[in-house]
Amino acid sequence: MGCGIQYECGECKSRGDMGSGEWLASPLSGDHREPRSIVGGTLYCILLVGFAAVAISSPWIFVFAPDMITPLLCSSNVILLVLTGIFQQYWVHQVRKVRLQGYYDFSQKLKRIARLPFATIAFGEKLRIPYKSCDALDEGYYAATCPDAASIVRATMERLHYNDPTLAPALIRLLFHDCFVRGCDASVLISPSPGHTSSERAAVPNHTLRGFNAVDAVKRDLESACPDAVSCADALALMARDAVALLGGDDYPVALGRRDGTESNAWEVDLPAPFSKLDDALAYFAARGFGAEETVVLFGAHTVGGAHCGSFRYRLTGGAGGGGPAMDDALRCELLQTCGGAAEQGMDTDPAVFFDPDTPFAVDNNYYKQIVANRTLLQVDQEAAAHPATAAHVAYYAAVNEAFVSRFSQVMAKLSNVGVIEGDAGEVRKVCSRYN
Ligand code: HEM
Repeated sequence: MGCGIQYECGECKSRGDMGSGEWLASPLSGDHREPRSIVGGTLYCILLVGFAAVAISSPWIFVFAPDMITPLLCSSNVILLVLTGIFQQYWVHQVRKVRLQGYYDFSQKLKRIARLPFATIAFGEKLRIPYKSCDALDEGYYAATCPDAASIVRATMERLHYNDPTLAPALIRLLFHDCFVRGCDASVLISPSPGHTSSERAAVPNHTLRGFNAVDAVKRDLESACPDAVSCADALALMARDAVALLGGDDYPVALGRRDGTESNAWEVDLPAPFSKLDDALAYFAARGFGAEETVVLFGAHTVGGAHCGSFRYRLTGGAGGGGPAMDDALRCELLQTCGGAAEQGMDTDPAVFFDPDTPFAVDNNYYKQIVANRTLLQVDQEAAAHPATAAHVAYYAAVNEAFVSRFSQVMAKLSNVGVIEGDAGEVRKVCSRYN
């Protein structure tokens, strides 16, 4: 007996030709089965156990490695592609079984019907992958819409820095204040307006922020080259990177694609005060994904720029009892001359001093050397020299300048990605200080 209609099945034909009784059983009989492979079965079980293990452990993986969430979400359409492929093979296998039982015409139709939805999804996904695998930030985000964005920002920054070197430190601080409240979404740039007087800029920690005009200047240049393309959040991230580089720090890559937020509220600004306990500041940074070492590195930004006396004057008159660790006496007397003992009336008349008077416009490790010698302005910084979670890092960076310089850029790159909004969320503001 031959295979008859089953000759369509190459496997059956060749085996039929061998004359095996088992393979030549009636097409409709239950015996007409392919032998199951032990290897395939074992692999299938391993796959199932693997899926179960990942499903059970995934919440814990994310606790310990929050950075994995984005890449996993980004690869979701690749996973979908693989799954559709597996399901398609499963259906084709089912159809083959029908065919083996003799319903050839029917099975041919069924095969197409079974394949159709999977093929649609799979090809759809294939088209989507090269286009944009997900909303993750990407250095080439403006390749089509504003290929020169980064160089436009750099050119304007160079010009501004040449005219006013105090601007670069201000922009580094601006990025920090933006990113730690609502994420890096340019919410800090929104000006209070008659309709909404309490934007982030109105909050006390932001009263001393500077650099808003510089952001406006950069944004104007971007708009004239590529209207409505580059977000203010991306512009600020690039400006802060350029500020670090112009101050002698390491250049670092900035992935782009941030969108601008559409909310900015003063009451949400919970940035630590200069007299905060270091423990509280560490907890605050940890809540945003920065460990003790990374926090100490970011504090190193206080090697550039300066502070108004209002943020440390109480340390000059109160001695150690005035709050936190004591300041070196020679520095204290020097600062008393500049700041005076009594609080000034307003920020405009309050004097300001450089954090690092030797090299106020250089990204270097002087900040750490200063705190080791009790010669820093802010109480929270001074505490880092002796705190068990930070003292070793401070000692290390005080000793190895290159280590700090390179680490500072790495952590600044991380800072510029905090809580970004992407895709269709938010907007691309035309003017950074107001919503569209
Ligand atoms: C507990 C955390 C922090 C506190 C309490 C703090 C506080 C301050 C204060 C009070 C000033 C002086 C502002 C003025 O009087 O004009 C200042 C300046 C500055 N801060 Fe921080 N800061 C902290 C963390 C950071 C971080 C993480 C960065 C950047 C990564 C940063 C960058 C700067 C810079 C560059 C300046 C100088 C700004 C200028 O010259 O205009 N700070 N900070």
